[in-house]
Amino acid sequence: MDNKVMVFDHPLIQHKIALLRQTGTTSKDFRELVKEVGLLMGFEVTRDLPLEPVEIETPICKTTVNMLSGEDLAIIPILRAGLGFVDGMLELVPNAKVGHVGLYRDPDTHEPVEYYCKLPEDIDKRRIVVVDPMLATGGSAAAAIDLIKQKGGKNICFMCLIAAPEGIEALTKAHPDVDVFIGAKDECLNENAYIVPGLGDAGDRLFGTK
Ligand code: PRP
Ligand code: URA
Repeated sequence: MDNKVMVFDHPLIQHKIALLRQTGTTSKDFRELVKEVGLLMGFEVTRDLPLEPVEIETPICKTTVNMLSGEDLAIIPILRAGLGFVDGMLELVPNAKVGHVGLYRDPDTHEPVEYYCKLPEDIDKRRIVVVDPMLATGGSAAAAIDLIKQKGGKNICFMCLIAAPEGIEALTKAHPDVDVFIGAKDECLNENAYIVPGLGDAGDRLFGTK
């Protein structure tokens, strides 16, 4: 199966990501901007959510309209930085369930290390949006999706703010069935596997830990 890889070119998204990149952006502004970009990207990511016909009554007459069928979305942030996307996505789809996958990159090997996984019980029936601001080597996203698939997840897409070409290649190779939504595609990785130009360490910038 071929992945869909979509890089957003919307001016509002480009502008907000430009602000996110700047060193002087405070954690408070960073959190607000990640939420806003999440909301804008989420609009497209949820484009193919299933609808069902429902009969309603307007002040004028009875009619049949389309409404979302069931509560079938799951948002799964990769801890920590993925948390920044959750509120924006929940504003769009308030009934979505939220699972969590905890992974950190080993500072020397840059390999992901798992420390937490809690998913909705009915994960096998849900459309799943895995969210993380950064797709660098792709190791964390690929490992998170491995875990979600092991627990029964099937219908999965991945959404990030900034991706390196190396990460896109690794993720699409590891999971050819997963569509990838990207706010901005950057140039490369540096010797520490950070995205260039990137925005630095997304978790530290969101939570002010450095
Ligand atoms: C960051 C980021 C991704 C990962 C991307 O998390 O939020 O999860 O790195 O890198 P990769 O594509 O090379 O795997 P980090 O490991 O810094 O953990 P944190 O969010 O807890 O700070
Ligand atoms: N993780 C981050 O937070 N930033 C990068 O550039 C790479 C991995």
